Amino acid sequence: MDLGHAGARAVVTGGGANIGRGIAHGFAREGARVLVVDVDAAQAEQVRAELVDLGAADARALTLDLTTDGAGAAVVAAALEAWGGVDVLVNNAGWSEPGWFAQQTDRALWQKTIEVNLFAAIDCTQAALGPMREAGRGAIVFLSSDSAFGAVRQGIYGSTKAGLIALARTVAREHGRHGIRSNVIAPGLVLPPDDAAVGASSVWAREDLFTPEQIDSVVRTQALRRPTTPDDIANAVLWVSSETAARQVTGQVVAVGGGSSMP
Ligand SMILES: NC(=O)c1ccc[n+]([C@@H]2O[C@H](COP(=O)([O-])OP(=O)(O)OC[C@H]3O[C@@H](n4cnc5c(N)ncnc54)[C@H](O)[C@@H]3O)[C@@H](O)[C@H]2O)c1
Repeated sequence: MDLGHAGARAVVTGGGANIGRGIAHGFAREGARVLVVDVDAAQAEQVRAELVDLGAADARALTLDLTTDGAGAAVVAAALEAWGGVDVLVNNAGWSEPGWFAQQTDRALWQKTIEVNLFAAIDCTQAALGPMREAGRGAIVFLSSDSAFGAVRQGIYGSTKAGLIALARTVAREHGRHGIRSNVIAPGLVLPPDDAAVGASSVWAREDLFTPEQIDSVVRTQALRRPTTPDDIANAVLWVSSETAARQVTGQVVAVGGGSSMP
């Protein structure tokens, strides 16, 4: 099925690593124009070059800390300047520090988690809505998580990921009449497929993020006892953002984790 993404103007935040990189790759393979936004300049540029090789109609990189004032406007301005609009916004940038809720008492940690996961998505989405409303169409995808439904050692992080679901559904209800669809993909555990997928600011740069035992136990509790890959997430994002394949789908949460959660 032709998803209709050829030439589409897609923005992927946090596109420099792991899942965001996989999503950017997916759009490139569909012949879209892709803007990779990341705080890590080297990773953003590396992925941009990969997108060209994969067949993107155009590929650009924007180095930006999405937690700074005016970041969302700068992201959308870059797409408008390059291509005159945004067809797909993927709010993928994220950050997490796993830990027991009662022990995660550091307010700076709460602040960073909320800034990166929730405020950056609010900011980029608000900035994209104007041009999308003007165009009478657009797709916004939020990367949530299994943790949104409650998970040990993910209390602060999971709260932000649950917030994204409310945000996505509000956007869906308020802006559907303007042809804008807003959906959520909730990945299960997705390990980076190779070294090229991890830069210094990726959470996976930390070798102790999860122990092999923790990873093994996550996979064993999934209905499909096999790992989830960035391509699995990308395929779901490509589908849900397609005006052809998901024309009547909005406000939905699709969990892609081998049945780790079933929202
Ligand atoms: N990997 C998983 O197991 C998993 C599971 C569920 C949900 N998720 C969510 O999927 C998304 C991607 O996860 P990932 O594993 O690829 O993470 P990652 O840490 O490997 O990549 C995130 C990217 O976002 C960028 N980023 C972080 N803060 C930024 C900022 N302030 N401004 C701009 N860019 C910034 C990083 O530089 C990095 O390139 C995140 O939202 C994450 O919470 C991941």
